[in-house]
Amino acid sequence: MSTAPDSLPSSPPDVELDGVTRRSTIKWMALAWTGFAAATAAGLTATVRFLFPNVLFEPPTRFKAGDPSSYALGVDERWKEKFGVWIVRDTNSIYALVAVCVHLGCTPNWLQAQNKFKCPCHGSGYYRSGINFEGPTPRPLERAAISISPDDGQIFIEKARKFLYEKGQWTDPAAFIKTT
Ligand code: FES
Repeated sequence: MSTAPDSLPSSPPDVELDGVTRRSTIKWMALAWTGFAAATAAGLTATVRFLFPNVLFEPPTRFKAGDPSSYALGVDERWKEKFGVWIVRDTNSIYALVAVCVHLGCTPNWLQAQNKFKCPCHGSGYYRSGINFEGPTPRPLERAAISISPDDGQIFIEKARKFLYEKGQWTDPAAFIKTT
Protein backbone atom coordinates (compact mmCIF):
# COMPACT_ATOMS: atom_id res chain seq x y z
CA MET A 1 0.00 0.00 0.00
CA SER A 2 1.39 3.39 -0.97
CA THR A 3 1.93 6.05 1.68
CA ALA A 4 2.66 8.88 -0.78
CA PRO A 5 0.60 12.00 -0.23
CA ASP A 6 -2.10 12.73 -2.76
CA SER A 7 -0.58 16.08 -3.70
CA LEU A 8 2.80 17.83 -3.38
CA PRO A 9 3.05 20.56 -0.79
CA SER A 10 2.43 23.89 -2.41
CA SER A 11 4.93 26.75 -2.12
CA PRO A 12 4.34 29.00 0.86
CA PRO A 13 1.98 31.81 0.16
CA ASP A 14 3.55 35.13 -0.74
CA VAL A 15 3.66 37.28 2.37
CA GLU A 16 2.63 40.87 2.09
CA LEU A 17 4.05 43.37 4.51
CA ASP A 18 3.04 47.01 4.23
CA GLY A 19 1.98 46.45 0.65
CA VAL A 20 5.32 44.87 -0.38
CA THR A 21 5.44 41.18 -1.25
CA ARG A 22 8.49 38.96 -0.93
CA ARG A 23 8.40 38.31 -4.69
CA SER A 24 8.49 42.00 -5.58
CA THR A 25 11.34 42.57 -3.11
CA ILE A 26 13.42 39.84 -4.82
CA LYS A 27 12.56 41.31 -8.22
CA TRP A 28 13.75 44.80 -7.21
CA MET A 29 16.90 43.42 -5.62
CA ALA A 30 17.72 41.52 -8.82
CA LEU A 31 17.17 44.70 -10.82
CA ALA A 32 19.38 46.67 -8.46
CA TRP A 33 22.19 44.10 -8.68
CA THR A 34 21.93 44.05 -12.47
CA GLY A 35 22.21 47.85 -12.53
CA PHE A 36 25.14 47.75 -10.14
CA ALA A 37 26.93 45.09 -12.26
CA ALA A 38 26.33 47.12 -15.46
CA ALA A 39 27.67 50.30 -13.84
CA THR A 40 30.72 48.43 -12.55
CA ALA A 41 31.40 46.95 -16.02
CA ALA A 42 31.08 50.39 -17.62
CA GLY A 43 33.45 51.86 -15.03
CA LEU A 44 35.97 49.07 -15.63
CA THR A 45 35.76 49.58 -19.39
CA ALA A 46 36.37 53.32 -18.95
CA THR A 47 39.35 52.59 -16.67
CA VAL A 48 40.89 50.15 -19.17
CA ARG A 49 40.42 52.66 -22.01
CA PHE A 50 42.03 55.33 -19.86
CA LEU A 51 45.03 53.08 -19.16
CA PHE A 52 45.34 51.93 -22.78
CA PRO A 53 44.16 54.86 -24.94
CA ASN A 54 43.90 54.67 -28.73
CA VAL A 55 47.33 55.88 -29.67
CA LEU A 56 48.58 56.15 -33.21
CA PHE A 57 52.07 54.77 -33.23
CA GLU A 58 54.12 56.71 -35.77
CA PRO A 59 57.48 55.42 -36.94
CA PRO A 60 60.47 57.12 -35.35
CA THR A 61 61.59 60.31 -37.10
CA ARG A 62 65.33 59.70 -36.52
CA PHE A 63 67.03 56.63 -37.85
CA LYS A 64 70.28 55.27 -39.16
CA ALA A 65 70.16 54.43 -42.84
CA GLY A 66 73.29 52.33 -43.34
CA ASP A 67 76.64 52.97 -44.92
CA PRO A 68 76.78 55.63 -47.66
CA SER A 69 78.65 53.17 -49.87
CA SER A 70 75.55 50.94 -49.92
CA TYR A 71 73.73 53.53 -52.03
CA ALA A 72 74.13 53.43 -55.79
CA LEU A 73 73.42 56.41 -58.03
CA GLY A 74 69.69 57.08 -58.20
CA VAL A 75 66.66 56.77 -55.93
CA ASP A 76 66.76 54.19 -53.16
CA GLU A 77 63.40 53.07 -51.80
CA ARG A 78 64.50 50.82 -48.95
CA TRP A 79 63.21 53.24 -46.27
CA LYS A 80 60.10 54.47 -48.03
CA GLU A 81 57.65 52.10 -46.40
CA LYS A 82 59.11 52.09 -42.91
CA PHE A 83 60.14 55.74 -42.52
CA GLY A 84 58.57 57.57 -45.47
CA VAL A 85 61.89 58.70 -46.94
CA TRP A 86 63.76 58.19 -50.20
CA ILE A 87 67.54 58.40 -50.18
CA VAL A 88 68.82 59.83 -53.43
CA ARG A 89 72.41 59.71 -54.57
CA ASP A 90 73.55 61.96 -57.40
CA THR A 91 77.03 62.51 -58.77
CA ASN A 92 78.34 64.51 -55.81
CA SER A 93 75.84 64.26 -52.94
CA ILE A 94 73.31 62.17 -51.04
CA TYR A 95 70.05 63.68 -49.82
CA ALA A 96 66.81 62.46 -48.21
CA LEU A 97 63.46 63.30 -49.77
CA VAL A 98 60.34 63.07 -47.60
CA ALA A 99 57.85 60.76 -49.36
CA VAL A 100 54.84 63.04 -48.89
CA CYS A 101 53.25 64.94 -51.76
CA VAL A 102 53.08 68.59 -50.73
CA HIS A 103 49.76 69.04 -52.54
CA LEU A 104 47.49 67.13 -50.15
CA GLY A 105 49.74 64.59 -48.49
CA CYS A 106 49.51 61.42 -50.58
CA THR A 107 52.53 59.18 -51.07
CA PRO A 108 54.03 59.54 -54.55
CA ASN A 109 55.56 56.62 -56.47
CA TRP A 110 59.03 56.56 -57.89
CA LEU A 111 58.80 55.71 -61.60
CA GLN A 112 62.26 54.52 -62.54
CA ALA A 113 61.53 54.24 -66.27
CA GLN A 114 60.28 57.84 -66.41
CA ASN A 115 62.87 59.10 -63.94
CA LYS A 116 60.29 60.96 -61.84
CA PHE A 117 58.07 60.80 -58.77
CA LYS A 118 54.39 60.69 -59.62
CA CYS A 119 51.59 61.24 -57.12
CA PRO A 120 48.69 58.82 -57.64
CA CYS A 121 46.11 61.17 -56.11
CA HIS A 122 45.99 64.17 -58.45
CA GLY A 123 48.90 63.59 -60.80
CA SER A 124 51.59 65.87 -59.44
CA GLY A 125 55.03 65.05 -60.79
CA TYR A 126 58.47 65.74 -59.31
CA TYR A 127 61.95 65.36 -60.75
CA ARG A 128 64.48 63.15 -58.97
CA SER A 129 65.72 66.27 -57.19
CA GLY A 130 62.26 66.77 -55.70
CA ILE A 131 61.46 69.83 -57.84
CA ASN A 132 57.84 69.83 -59.04
CA PHE A 133 57.07 70.14 -62.73
CA GLU A 134 53.49 68.96 -63.32
CA GLY A 135 50.11 68.67 -61.63
CA PRO A 136 48.55 70.80 -58.90
CA THR A 137 51.36 70.64 -56.36
CA PRO A 138 52.39 74.16 -55.38
CA ARG A 139 56.05 73.45 -54.54
CA PRO A 140 58.84 70.86 -54.47
CA LEU A 141 59.07 67.87 -52.15
CA GLU A 142 60.72 68.49 -48.80
CA ARG A 143 64.16 67.22 -47.86
CA ALA A 144 65.04 65.84 -44.43
CA ALA A 145 68.19 66.49 -42.41
CA ILE A 146 70.93 64.03 -43.28
CA SER A 147 74.40 63.56 -41.81
CA ILE A 148 77.08 60.98 -41.14
CA SER A 149 76.89 59.52 -37.65
CA PRO A 150 80.25 60.18 -35.94
CA ASP A 151 80.17 56.92 -33.96
CA ASP A 152 79.82 54.41 -36.81
CA GLY A 153 79.89 56.32 -40.11
CA GLN A 154 76.30 55.44 -41.02
CA ILE A 155 73.90 57.85 -42.65
CA PHE A 156 71.71 59.49 -40.02
CA ILE A 157 68.30 60.90 -40.98
CA GLU A 158 66.23 63.35 -38.94
CA LYS A 159 62.90 63.43 -40.70
CA ALA A 160 61.35 66.06 -38.43
CA ARG A 161 63.99 68.58 -39.51
CA LYS A 162 62.87 69.70 -42.96
CA PHE A 163 64.53 71.77 -45.65
CA LEU A 164 62.45 73.65 -48.20
CA TYR A 165 63.67 74.50 -51.68
CA GLU A 166 61.54 77.65 -51.92
CA LYS A 167 63.21 79.02 -48.80
CA GLY A 168 66.69 78.36 -50.16
CA GLN A 169 67.33 75.69 -47.55
CA TRP A 170 68.56 72.87 -49.83
CA THR A 171 72.04 74.41 -49.77
CA ASP A 172 72.17 74.09 -45.98
CA PRO A 173 75.01 71.66 -45.11
CA ALA A 174 72.54 69.63 -43.02
CA ALA A 175 70.36 69.03 -46.10
CA PHE A 176 72.83 66.77 -47.93
CA ILE A 177 76.02 64.73 -47.59
CA LYS A 178 78.82 65.64 -49.94
CA THR A 179 80.32 62.58 -51.59
CA THR A 180 83.06 64.11 -53.78
S1 FES B 1 48.12 64.83 -53.10
FE1 FES B 1 49.62 64.55 -54.61
S2 FES B 1 48.78 65.50 -56.34
FE2 FES B 1 47.33 65.83 -54.82
